[in-house]
Amino acid sequence: MLTIGVVGCGDVATRAYLPGIKHLEDKSRLVACFDTIAERAETAAAMFPGAIAYTSYDAFLAHPGGMDLVINLTPAPLHRQITGQALEAGYNVFSEKPIAATIEQANELVALAGQAGKQLFCAPAVMVTARFRWLKEYVQSGAIGRPTLNTAQIGSMGPAAWRTYTGDPTVFYKPGVGPLIDTGVYMLTAMTGMLGPAKRVAAMGGIAIPERNILIPAFEGKTAKVETEDIMMIHLDFGENTFGQLLSSFAIPQSHVPMFELFGEGGTISIRRDQWYNGNGTTDLYLRNEADETQEGWRENVPVPAPIATDGILESGILHVLECLEGEATPVMTAAHATHVLEIMNAARESVRSGKAIALTTTFGQNARDVAGQDLAAIES
Ligand SMILES: NC(=O)c1ccc[n+]([C@@H]2O[C@H](COP(=O)([O-])OP(=O)(O)OC[C@H]3O[C@@H](n4cnc5c(N)ncnc54)[C@H](O)[C@@H]3O)[C@@H](O)[C@H]2O)c1
Repeated sequence: MLTIGVVGCGDVATRAYLPGIKHLEDKSRLVACFDTIAERAETAAAMFPGAIAYTSYDAFLAHPGGMDLVINLTPAPLHRQITGQALEAGYNVFSEKPIAATIEQANELVALAGQAGKQLFCAPAVMVTARFRWLKEYVQSGAIGRPTLNTAQIGSMGPAAWRTYTGDPTVFYKPGVGPLIDTGVYMLTAMTGMLGPAKRVAAMGGIAIPERNILIPAFEGKTAKVETEDIMMIHLDFGENTFGQLLSSFAIPQSHVPMFELFGEGGTISIRRDQWYNGNGTTDLYLRNEADETQEGWRENVPVPAPIATDGILESGILHVLECLEGEATPVMTAAHATHVLEIMNAARESVRSGKAIALTTTFGQNARDVAGQDLAAIES
């Protein structure tokens, strides 16, 4: 039985992580909660018999008996500090996205984890959902041939228009957050998870709607000032004539465009908005067949062959991290992957400012383009 401490008992903790931990209580037990707002820490701790609520981080880190895992659910600008202190205190850490604000900070955290001999896992968990585990194998099997293009779109009006959001929506429109860090990160993690590290980024973007009425009842009459790009259009070059394109925005009221499409020489993988948020959910596939036209066409709503214990993307991450700590799984949500995605997001902003394509320097493990035994690294070398 693994013990867990949660830092930051706000919206995502209440909405997903605390119920997710409870759902997995055969594997883990929450023993400590920390929030600077006492009521939040106490409400979270009350869900788990014997758990202790803390309002001091030092006291939390000194929890009697320690814990096997600290989950960092604080707002993005605090991730470097909170994760770093937990690693220094000798804990494994699972951080919500982004891993940190800069590559240098991310590298510092990786170094701290190494010094402590502890593991650092990073959200988003999209690649450990049942769907993406299967799709990666599906592409690796050669089912859609050589992948050529991955398009993705994730858009909304952002948390100011999310009437049931319980946190502070203004944070999401400030420098250092924005649609890319908040939700575009899911797509970049999926795109690079499928195609491997990207080599170059070119982006356009800007602030399309500079002020927002906040529609959350507790913020009635208040507005949010938009201080970072609310439209980001990103082009990625994966090398070997394989490309990616992402639209990430807080200026999209609604859309019928699929959220994720991966095109190969022999077929298409397509995930609609109503499919995306269920990690065990269905996927649409299109297969070409040059020899037999009758075998060509869409297969709609194809189920995942091996669903896992949870549908939620976030909850899939908790399960994966626990399995890694138990030695039952190999880490997929690595700091190296999160650092590469962070580099893409920061390079995209730099490209918006400079008007130039930016070469990427970071890299991480294997990818689904190693189709049918072909080793991409060998091809490239
Ligand atoms: N809300 C969601 O649906 C959602 C989904 C996926 C990921 N996330 C990510 O989860 C993280 C938290 O988002 P949220 O929506 O829950 O925000 P939130 O503002 O609702 O919650 C953050 C909590 O952290 C606490 N906090 C602030 N400073 C702290 C400190 N120094 N020490 C300890 N606690 C502190 C706040 O009091 C608050 O309770 C962000 O990285 C966000 O990107 C959120």
